[in-house]
Amino acid sequence: MYPWTDRAGTFSALKSAVLLACLAPGASLLAKALGGMLGSKPLTYAIHDTGDWAVRFLLLSLLVTPMRTIAAWPKLIMVRRMLGLTALAYVLIHFVLYVVDQRYDLIKVASEIALRFYLTIGFAALIGLAVLGGTSTDAAIKRLGTVRWNRLHAIVYGLAVLSLVHFFIQSRLDVTQPVLMSGFFVWLMGYRLLRKRDVAINLLSLSALALTAGLATALIEVAWYASMTGVKASRVLAANLDFSFVIRPAWWVLWAGLALALVQLARRPANPAARR
Ligand code: HEM
Repeated sequence: MYPWTDRAGTFSALKSAVLLACLAPGASLLAKALGGMLGSKPLTYAIHDTGDWAVRFLLLSLLVTPMRTIAAWPKLIMVRRMLGLTALAYVLIHFVLYVVDQRYDLIKVASEIALRFYLTIGFAALIGLAVLGGTSTDAAIKRLGTVRWNRLHAIVYGLAVLSLVHFFIQSRLDVTQPVLMSGFFVWLMGYRLLRKRDVAINLLSLSALALTAGLATALIEVAWYASMTGVKASRVLAANLDFSFVIRPAWWVLWAGLALALVQLARRPANPAARR
């Protein structure tokens, strides 16, 4: 089985398209590096870029389960493993680039990881993702059994939280991106909560989820700025209502959530029996 074929060994357009999407950020980074377009600190640029993509692919892998229902596209499961492994690949490159940046001084790398909290949790997330990657094969699923495998792979939610905290702490003053990613994560977890509570997935529940995730995103932003910089909550909230500068992450999370609610509406089976 190749990354572009399905289980039967036939060419899969879906898997091929996702494979290209997985490789694109790495190829773009490499092309920029070869063209000397990574700025005055190429390693720092590459560390940030690979870190960003690691988080994005991790969240995309978590989006597969909701999208199977929302878009009525069960075949999407075929690309979940690929997305998760892509997140791991970007994390590993991210780590190797960090080691290169530290001039291969492994003692320094180890002590930095032990001493700096944001690196300690980044490292914990990396180890966890490596464990998930190592147990993502069919043979590993068979060996562990579905129940134990599912239980192990549920740690992905905790690893996503660690990755987001790592993202927040290193971003320091401008946390727009980590706030945005956290908002998407809230939506992803909220969706799972709805499923767990047996709430019907429809326009109403998805719209309510979009609104809740959007509000939670604004609150995460307020909480971060209030605790780290002392900026008043009212000022951060007011920035969310000022569209003349930048549109704050809470709105993107709300719109993305509402867009998914519309996708569900458009894709739901016309026949109520099939819907059930
Ligand atoms: C041993 C493991 C790790 C190390 C040593 C490490 C190291 C770093 C370093 C040095 C930075 C830049 C900090 C700065 O410029 O001040 C960074 C940023 C970042 N890292 Fe990691 N990291 C690790 C694991 C992870 C993991 C597991 C993820 C996500 C899955 C991740 C995602 C990110 C992101 C998103 C950024 C910020 C990128 C940006 O600002 O655009 N890192 N990391």
